[in-house]
Amino acid sequence: MGRRGHTALLSLLLSLVLFYVFEHESIVRAVSIPAKFDGFVYNYTGTGIDSIIIEAFFDPVCPDSRDAWPPLKRAIAYYAPRVSLIVHPFALPYHDNAFATSRALHIVNKLNSSATYHLLEMLFKHQEIFYNQITVNMSRTAIVDCIVKFVSKAVGESLFSAIKSGFSDRQTDLTTRVSFKYGCSRGVLGTPYFFVNGFPLPDPGSAINYSKWRSILDPLVSDSVKRETLHFFL
Ligand SMILES: *[C@@H]1O[C@H](CO)[C@@H](O)[C@H](O)[C@H]1NC(C)=O
Ligand SMILES: *[C@@H]1O[C@H](CO)[C@@H](O)[C@H](O)[C@H]1NC(C)=O
Ligand SMILES: *[C@@H]1O[C@H](CO)[C@@H](O)[C@H](O)[C@H]1NC(C)=O
Ligand SMILES: *[C@@H]1O[C@H](CO)[C@@H](O)[C@H](O)[C@H]1NC(C)=O
Repeated sequence: MGRRGHTALLSLLLSLVLFYVFEHESIVRAVSIPAKFDGFVYNYTGTGIDSIIIEAFFDPVCPDSRDAWPPLKRAIAYYAPRVSLIVHPFALPYHDNAFATSRALHIVNKLNSSATYHLLEMLFKHQEIFYNQITVNMSRTAIVDCIVKFVSKAVGESLFSAIKSGFSDRQTDLTTRVSFKYGCSRGVLGTPYFFVNGFPLPDPGSAINYSKWRSILDPLVSDSVKRETLHFFL
């Protein structure tokens, strides 16, 4: 490579570095901070910062997210109230109906927050209805109508019109975007994607079974018990 080649390579590298630095900074700056922490807290008991916090990023129409839920739910039940869970919807761009179904979760969470997890479970159970190939010939409007019917059947027909108007409320669009941007800011690349006490678990994109959850959480729970006992004796 000649000198000109070197110079060209160097300036390319420099511009890549600068691009990365500024781009990353501007992504972080471009997202305005939401008034409340993103996501849906599971069985909120007000346990607070003392408990072990699992954050799960799920796409409602992703089969691996669906498969990840039962073992996680079982683990949360086992460790309650030592372990808390927050689910963040994360709409993968290659799932055509991921954003609309994530938005449905936000709409329902606003109308009746105790129905959010029930809706998530119903979406997981019947997610095939909203797969790309199944909905390929449907218009956006037809798909939203279908989601509105599905959701009101899941959480109560009395909410039908509220759910329907939720889909034309700009605020619910924005909160769903916040969830997505929050995931991006944490480096989420696929679903399911888990963080425990803020640290990402390895092997993102695949379900974690119950025994694996036990092996991840057992040491943390016994650690925090030890810490508390120590406090008690000091
Ligand atoms: C969470 O709440 C559901 C009912 O809403 C209940 O059946 C379940 O036992 C609760 N799980 C935990 C871990 O508290
Ligand atoms: C909210 O959801 C819960 C759980 O699905 C349900 O028991 C309750 O009746 C709902 N409340 C309203 C006002 O629809
Ligand atoms: C979508 O439309 C195409 C062309 O009309 C048809 O061949 C295909 O079977 C349709 N797919 C579904 C899932 O309805
Ligand atoms: C759970 O997953 C781990 C890998 O993460 C695997 O080694 C183990 O065999 C699985 N256990 C069961 C019971 O499927």
